Amino acid sequence: MQKESQNAIPDHRPAGLGCGRPTEITALATHVPPRVLTNADFEKMVDTTSEWILQRTGIVERHVVEPGIASSDLGAAAAKKAIAQAGLTPDDIDLIIVGTTTPDMFFPSTAALIQHKIGASHAWGFDLAGACSGFTFALATGSQLVSTGRHNHALIVGADVMSSITDYQDRATCVLFGDGAGAAVVSAAKDPSLAILDFAHEVDGSGAPFLQMPAGGSLRPATRETVEQRLHFIKQDGQAVFKFAVRKTEEISRLIMQRNNLTPDDIDLFVSHQANMRIIKAAGERLGFPECKVMINLQRYGNTTAATIPLALHDAIADGRLKKGNLVLLASVGAGFTVGSVLLRWAY
Ligand code: UT7
Repeated sequence: MQKESQNAIPDHRPAGLGCGRPTEITALATHVPPRVLTNADFEKMVDTTSEWILQRTGIVERHVVEPGIASSDLGAAAAKKAIAQAGLTPDDIDLIIVGTTTPDMFFPSTAALIQHKIGASHAWGFDLAGACSGFTFALATGSQLVSTGRHNHALIVGADVMSSITDYQDRATCVLFGDGAGAAVVSAAKDPSLAILDFAHEVDGSGAPFLQMPAGGSLRPATRETVEQRLHFIKQDGQAVFKFAVRKTEEISRLIMQRNNLTPDDIDLFVSHQANMRIIKAAGERLGFPECKVMINLQRYGNTTAATIPLALHDAIADGRLKKGNLVLLASVGAGFTVGSVLLRWAY
């Protein structure tokens, strides 16, 4: 892992989005499958207790799909709602970017499958492998492509069926993850002051050993042995990821605030990736955010990887905690490692 001193934040990158037109999120919607796994359910599956799961993670329940339901199904359901909410039709969408760690299959892309399922007849698109930073990475990418004027409406999807790669015999990981999707429509900003303002993203591949699915890719194609060794499931060094997540969530958030001349007082809502309540609270405290400014909803969904941030934004709107004009800071840390942050002023 790269080492930096606590105080010196390396920042050679310019703030802001460049010279293009401002962009905004015009609509956001989510979808989770109806089936719920509670902490009590895990007591029957592995050697754990509801108390351990709640105290160590903050998670109470998570949604999981029935067999035959894939990331494209969850993503398409969220996308249809978001497009309608934006007052658009699928034909208006120029571009679909899907952040996912659990594509329906290696190929074709989940973006192509969603394009077909929603009938977005004029769109091109692609999948983006940013793990838990899938939504922040996809949001910044789509924003840039709309910003140039070359595209008018980008559909940004974070969708994951984590239950498809979760080992329900491994108590250290199986209690953490859930399935879900969120979709946002990104368009030219109607009011340039209510826009996506900045992003700062990083990857650090030295973190790969700490969180990965070891087999099934080109390095270790599926064999009888890889299946028997349960290598097609998530493997995680929880403590290493925990420490990195707290440090980098703070660091990337500080960086983007500093270069936009902002203090925690200026931020109305801090929406971090939802992996562990203790990570979010530790990062929020280090940054100096009061609890009321820190969005936490992983109690209900667990870690849905690329879907956590849109699920949190959606619940913040529903709870009246996110309103038009609010300054919002998104932050994510995930496998790779990936690190993301997006600063935006909420547009609706
Ligand atoms: O989204 C991407 C990234 N992922 C994350 O951000 C996750 C980061 N990591 C974490 O959230 C935490 O490290 C975990 C929730 C995974 C684990 O919490 P922890 O406080 O770091 O626990 P630990 O790994 O240090 O394990 C403590 C003990 C161990 O037992 P011993 O060795 O002390 O006897 C584990 O075997 O807890 C045990 N343990 C469990 N006990 C009951 C691990 N999982 C469970 C479980 N139920 N489900």
